[in-house]
This record gives sequence, C-alpha cells and structure tokens, in this order.
Amino acid sequence: TVEGVLLVGVPAPRQFTADELRLLEALAEMAGATIHRLRLHAETLRRVQQLEALQTIDRAITASLDLRVSLAILLEQTTIQLGVDAAGVLLYNPHLNTLDYAAGHGLRSPLYRHTRVRLGEGLTGLAALEHRLVVVPDLSQADPPWGRETLREAEGFVTYAVAPLVAKGQLQGVLEIFHRSPLRPDEDWLTFFQALAQQASIAVDNARLFDRLQRSHMELVMAYDATIEGWARALDLRDRETEDHTRRVTEMTLALARAMGMPEAELVHVRRGALLHDIGKMAIPDTVLLKPGPLTEEEWAIMRRHPEYALDLLSPILYLRPALDIPYCHHERWDGRGYPRGLKGEEIPLAARLFAVADVFDALTSDRPYRPAWSRQEALDYIRHQAGRQFDPKVVAVFLEMMEKGEIG
Ligand code: C2E
Ligand code: SIN
Ligand code: SIN
Ligand code: FE
Ligand code: FE
Repeated sequence: TVEGVLLVGVPAPRQFTADELRLLEALAEMAGATIHRLRLHAETLRRVQQLEALQTIDRAITASLDLRVSLAILLEQTTIQLGVDAAGVLLYNPHLNTLDYAAGHGLRSPLYRHTRVRLGEGLTGLAALEHRLVVVPDLSQADPPWGRETLREAEGFVTYAVAPLVAKGQLQGVLEIFHRSPLRPDEDWLTFFQALAQQASIAVDNARLFDRLQRSHMELVMAYDATIEGWARALDLRDRETEDHTRRVTEMTLALARAMGMPEAELVHVRRGALLHDIGKMAIPDTVLLKPGPLTEEEWAIMRRHPEYALDLLSPILYLRPALDIPYCHHERWDGRGYPRGLKGEEIPLAARLFAVADVFDALTSDRPYRPAWSRQEALDYIRHQAGRQFDPKVVAVFLEMMEKGEIG
C-alpha cells in the first residue's frame, strides 16, 4: 500500500544517476516501512488506550452505585478518547417524554445544565426517538435543524454527534459529544463512540435497577418497623398501667448496648427485640395479666410461658429472627435460675442481659396491677443487690454508672 511519496529535487541540468535512483528507491522503501510501522504502532496504542478507557468506565460503573459518579468518569474518558471538547448525557424522562440533563463535561456555559429536549423534536429528539446514531460535522448545516441554537451560540459548537442509550430495548437517554472545530470521524471513532454509549446505557440501567430495589427495600423496612411500633403500643395499652414502659426500656437498652460497644449493625435488632419484648403476653388471659394481687401456682405457670409464646409468634418471621434474643431470653437469670431455659452467665445473649436490667428497673419504678411503684432508690438498691444473681455484674456496673451520670433513667 502507498503510504506517501518521497520528493527529491535537483537543480537542472543535473540528472540522477542509476545508483542515486537505486538509493532513493531504497530510502523510500525504508521510509514507507517506518511510516507503516509508526502507524501500526499508533493504532495499537490507540486501541490499547481505548480498551483501558472502557475498563476504567467499567470499574466506575461496578464500583459506584451513584450514577453521577459513573457518568462523570464516562464523560471524561469520552472526551479524551474521542478527542472532543465536550460530552454530555441526557436521560429519558418517560413521564414528560423529554430528555433531561444528567451530566456534562467540558461545557463552558451553565446553559447545558438546563437542557430539556422533547422526544422527537430537533435532531437530538429524533435520534433518540428512532434509536439512531447521528453525526453532524457542521451544526449550522444540520438537517433537520439542531434546535438548540442558544446552546450552540454560547458554546461555539461546530461538530455534534449523538448516540441513543438503549437497554433491554428501552430508551434510557442519549450520549452526545460536541466539538468546537470541524471533525471528520472515521469508522474506528464511530465504533468507539458506540461502545461508550453502550457502557453509558449499562450504567444508567444499573442505577435505575438499584434505585428501584433500594426504594422497595426501604419501603418494606419502614412498613415492618411501623408494624412493630404498632404492636408495641397495643401491648402497652393492654396492661394499661405500663404506659410508655416499652419506649423507655427500648431507649435504655439501646443506650446500654452502645455503652457496651455493641456493633451498630446489631442495634436495629436490639431495638426491635426490645419493642417486642413482651409480645408473648398477648397469649396471657386478662384474668392473669391484669390480676390485682399475687399469682397462684397455675397462673404463674401460664405467665412464665410468655417468652416461649414470643418465640412461637416471631420465629416464622424471617426478618425478626435476629431480634428474638430479647423476647425469648429476657427472663433468664445470670445464676441460671431464670426461665424458660435456665441459661447461665454468658450463655444468655448480651442483648437479653442488657434488657433484663432496664426492664426490671422500669417495672419496679412503675405501678403494677399487683403492687404500687417502688422509689428510684429502692429500685437501684435492688439492681445492685442482684448483680451476679439475677443480672450480669458487668452490665449492672455500666447501668449504675450511667444512672449516676444521668445518661439514662
Ligand atoms: P412485669 O410486671 O413487666 O415485670 C417484669 C420483671 O420485673 C419481672 O419478671 C421481675 O423480674 C421484675 N419485677 C416486677 N415487679 C417486681 C416486684 O414487685 N418485685 C421484684 N423482685 N421484681 C419485680 P417476672 O417476675 O418474671 O414477671 C414477669 C411478668 O409476670 C411481670 O411482668 C408481670 O406481668 C407478671 N407478674 C409477676 N408477678 C406478678 C404478680 O404478683 N401478680 C400479677 N398479676 N402479675 C405478676
Ligand atoms: C439547551 O439548553 O441545551 C437547549 C436550549 C437551547 O440551547 O436553545
Ligand atoms: C421508640 O422508638 O419507641 C424508642 C426507641 C428508640 O430510641 O428508637
Ligand atoms: Fe417479660
Ligand atoms: Fe417489660
């Protein structure tokens, strides 16, 4: 293939000798080979750079769940690899049937941020509607007209190209590039532009999927927690005199858990468990639950089943299983004489050991159908006396210290 021509001139009347011509031929061949090698080298280098750019974008899309971050990297790579002045992404808004600004790179005026193009209108809108890649070497000659003259004048754009972003057959938006001087893209350029558009559509699709998942997950969590709080209030209402007991012991237990360094991720389960600690009492008849005096042996046998009722009620709910420690174990005792299983010491889950102290303190300082409230001092003395008997002594120490400092209670 011809790479170029080597021109050599000599003043007349001098003629080239046969030897000189052979030498020139050899030189031209060497020059041709060198140019060819250099071109190949440049092309290889360009392809390697393009691959690296695609990988960079790929990593950004995978690592970031934030679409703005992915698109910023994609647009930066787009301008570098395609050698253009600016690039942007417009996202399709199906409610308004418009393409709206999402990200831009290399733009001088703030106009671009307000871009809203109606689908099917102007060159951009048509390309998107028809899922077509369009290149316009000279915007002033565009047919149909570009339709974004204010932007063109403000930025001085000459060349424009737009590629639709399509995922699973659905229009997501467009990737567009701008250049302030004429540009004649070759086939290689177009292929790479298409590859970039494909990655942009993957980024947009991922982000939308993640948004939907996250939103439905959040809605579910909120619905669950609202349900739990509703149950807790219903339980407090049932033993009328324990009003606000659940809220207070939940707050106190969380404060103790934080002070004992329980991991943040576990606190959500501690909170739910504390709110639901006596849910098993739903199965206890009013005659027992609201009895004004001491319980008979049979009544006591019924009452002591409330932690097991809680286990039965909550364990089918997968979401609440990690919250079961408190409802199931809050009447275990450090010395092993508690119920329902007679667990001892650290066999008792930490959340339940913390909760037991908060629950008994709050129960003692409240009126109950079976006795009037104790004073704060009487309750504190009782807790201190039960360290190592009913309660974990370490928990009692933290509890008393926090009480003294006014951090709880
Ligand atoms: P509750 O009233 O919420 O009390 C929770 C825990 O606080 C009790 O667990 C106990 O450890 C402690 N506590 C409450 N009041 C007193 C008290 O006057 N003295 C002492 N030393 N500790 C107290 P416990 O004992 O396993 O009781 C579980 C539930 O059984 C109580 O929950 C309450 O609903 C019921 N209950 C317990 N004793 C009686 C009673 O004499 N009469 C009636 N009607 N119900 C009782
Ligand atoms: C835009 O801001 O990109 C569209 C409006 C215009 O330039 O005329
Ligand atoms: C509550 O929500 O009832 C209080 C517990 C908390 O601190 O979240
Ligand atoms: Fe209980
Ligand atoms: Fe309680």
